[in-house]
Amino acid sequence: MKTYSKIAGIGKYLPSYVMTNNELTNYMDTSDEWIQERTGIKERRYAKKHEETTTTMGAEASKKAIESAGISKEDIDFIIFATLSPDYYFPGCGVLLQRELGITKSECAALDIRNQCSGFVYGLSVADQFIKTGMYKNILLVGAEMHSMGLDYSTEGRTVTVIFGDGAGAVILQPTNDENEGILTTHLHSDGTHAEELAMISPGSHGGKHLGKDKFGFEETGNPGDIFVTQKMLDDGLLFPNMNGQLVFKTAVTKFPEVIQEALQKTGKSPSEIDMFIPHQANLRIASFVQKQLGLSDDKVYNNIQKYGNTTAASIPIALCEAYELGKVKKGDLVCLAAFGSGFTWGSALLNWAI
Ligand code: UT7
Repeated sequence: MKTYSKIAGIGKYLPSYVMTNNELTNYMDTSDEWIQERTGIKERRYAKKHEETTTTMGAEASKKAIESAGISKEDIDFIIFATLSPDYYFPGCGVLLQRELGITKSECAALDIRNQCSGFVYGLSVADQFIKTGMYKNILLVGAEMHSMGLDYSTEGRTVTVIFGDGAGAVILQPTNDENEGILTTHLHSDGTHAEELAMISPGSHGGKHLGKDKFGFEETGNPGDIFVTQKMLDDGLLFPNMNGQLVFKTAVTKFPEVIQEALQKTGKSPSEIDMFIPHQANLRIASFVQKQLGLSDDKVYNNIQKYGNTTAASIPIALCEAYELGKVKKGDLVCLAAFGSGFTWGSALLNWAI
């Protein structure tokens, strides 16, 4: 009998502070009108500094997912944590989440995924393989981000800063023999050609390679410690994410439809059979373009970027959870997930909704 993976529980967490577009105008030269017109975003949530972290938000979402699946934390045998804004450079958030949840058994392994916007889809695919081989029975997959601590709030950083928000989403994956409640297919892609076009490149081990030494003020002093973080990096604001927005936009609108078609073809399904499409919430204009390409009506797509901004690895599980809570995703529905982002990496998944 064939084994599939099913989403058996889901949860989300959004911090309470609402950062509106208007409030951002206190820090940078931008406007509510520009942000809404170019991105669809009206507001985003920010975590409480010194109290909340990527891991603690992930833990809140996880507790709800665990409860929703009707299991106990001790049942979890594998944690997958996708984020680009971890609590520490290392160790990863997976082990911190294990500690935060109070999971004491060391048989529960923890893995961190660094695939940015497509981190959740990558994590879903990894979890699916481990479930199908029979290695794990209860996998906790989390996407969480705390962007607000690491953005450039000057006008120079406005293109990136206005789009990002904080939050977390989590799912529990379990085995099933019933195809009608399982993940049907996942498709993953990457292309490192444009790695630096959407990246936070410092601090890191590159020492100026890839981009030219002068940009970072690296000095040949013979002291290996000089190259990790330089004063010039701090002065020039190089410790912030940077993005070639137009290139990312143009590539995204090509890759989203391609990778969704790949999943449809693999399963012999047509776009009209999709009951709910949840795209990574990068930009409402990207989501609308993809929706049009697929010929989907508004009730078959769920977007919430208007309220939460782009929460990177957390955006799909947050939107999926909200759509489920609102009754827009029902047991037996064919759900399509797709993401594109930094790397570049992109991916899709088609699944039958199980709960
Ligand atoms: O989830 C990860 C993947 N990320 C994405 O998918 C993001 C994809 N890219 C985008 O969503 C869009 O490129 C952005 C929303 C980031 C930017 O929108 P855009 O329409 O591509 O704007 P642009 O960068 O071409 O800038 C157009 C103008 C510029 O002014 P000039 O040179 O025409 O005078 C910018 O300086 O808009 C200006 N601008 C802003 N103005 C007010 C850029 N950011 C802002 C801002 N507020 N926040």
